[in-house]
Amino acid sequence: MLAGKRVLLIISGGIAAYKSLDLIRRLRERGAEVRCVLTRAAKEFVTPLSVGTLSKSRVYDELFDLTAEHEIGHIRLARDCDVVVVAPATANILAAMAQGLAGDLATTVLLATDRPVLAAPAMNHVMWASPATVANLSVLRDRGVSFVGPESGELAEGEIGTGRMSEPLAIVAAIENLLGANAPLRGRRALVTSGPTYEPIDPVRYIANRSSGKQGHAIAAALAALGAETTLVSGPTRLADPAGCRVLRVETAQQMLAATLSALPADVAVCAAAVADWRPAAPGNAKLKKDGGAPPQIALAENPDILATLSRHKQRPSLVVGFAAETDDLIAHATAKRLRKGCDWIVANDVSTGTGTFGGDDNRVHVIDAAGTESWDPMKKDEVARRLARRIADRLAGAA
Ligand code: C5P
Repeated sequence: MLAGKRVLLIISGGIAAYKSLDLIRRLRERGAEVRCVLTRAAKEFVTPLSVGTLSKSRVYDELFDLTAEHEIGHIRLARDCDVVVVAPATANILAAMAQGLAGDLATTVLLATDRPVLAAPAMNHVMWASPATVANLSVLRDRGVSFVGPESGELAEGEIGTGRMSEPLAIVAAIENLLGANAPLRGRRALVTSGPTYEPIDPVRYIANRSSGKQGHAIAAALAALGAETTLVSGPTRLADPAGCRVLRVETAQQMLAATLSALPADVAVCAAAVADWRPAAPGNAKLKKDGGAPPQIALAENPDILATLSRHKQRPSLVVGFAAETDDLIAHATAKRLRKGCDWIVANDVSTGTGTFGGDDNRVHVIDAAGTESWDPMKKDEVARRLARRIADRLAGAA
């Protein structure tokens, strides 16, 4: 249900705009208030009169409308809502969003909003598959924009392919998900570690590893999407903060441990970080000089094991999940690791050269718990994250 929720619906100019009229009806049936912004091109497909009649609200279409004193300002329009939905989202508006353009009211609102944004793309299948659209999607996803669809099938121009806007009920379900109307982890606290750690040798150099943080960040976003109050403890990454999470940024393993413990108590902890096992024992305060002599010997000290510490902590989360990145004998090593670390589940993945797991978008995992091993098909890291978050929600609800 969406009772009392305020949806700002941006309709951009595609043939699928006719389905947005039904979307407005479906949203209102569920108790949502709907305000609509039409782009200039959208008005070629649907009229402000029909949109206004169905939404029972004033329709916004041109930026200059908002300069009149009695009108609501575009900043307020962008923020006086619980969610901004772009349906249909054309290739053009997605490109404008990725670029941060603000050439009309719709894109200005999108740039000015601090609310969650859901886009329902609709376009020709070749445009959808074009490198420009793929790159724009990736930028927008990294910034926390959510997507529903597009679907495959016959397109308006008679071609077959992926590009049809999702049906209104699917868009409604995605909005409900985004707003946490289906939030099995509401009231739960989650803690996620992600990314590599940097262990200084001197002020300039450090020891690190190839972890991108993609899987851990996706897990934090997925837990937050299910309603968990989520703290992400992140080593240095190039990723944007996942939507809806509190992010504590650290560099070293010791800092990661301190930040992690500061976020207790938690109901679930997922340790996805690739923590350096060792650190230079005595990092220099000055840059080591190459003085023609023998190369320096760097003595190493063992880092704290965050996963093992959490698993045996007096404030142990009721579910502790570790990761095992292995290059050989994956299941056997990961099974032994679960017992050694004292965690409940281990998510094992193969990171040998050629799998593309480190830094890539895909992952093939095996979830090992006391009952045995569950092997998942290869899938996107985002999808692994969503499935894992669901499994966590089931387990905390006592179902798994
Ligand atoms: O021992 P290994 O590094 O393979 O264990 C991997 C698991 O342990 C991951 O969940 C990782 O986040 C966690 N870990 C940790 N602190 C360490 C080393 C690993 O939390 N110092």
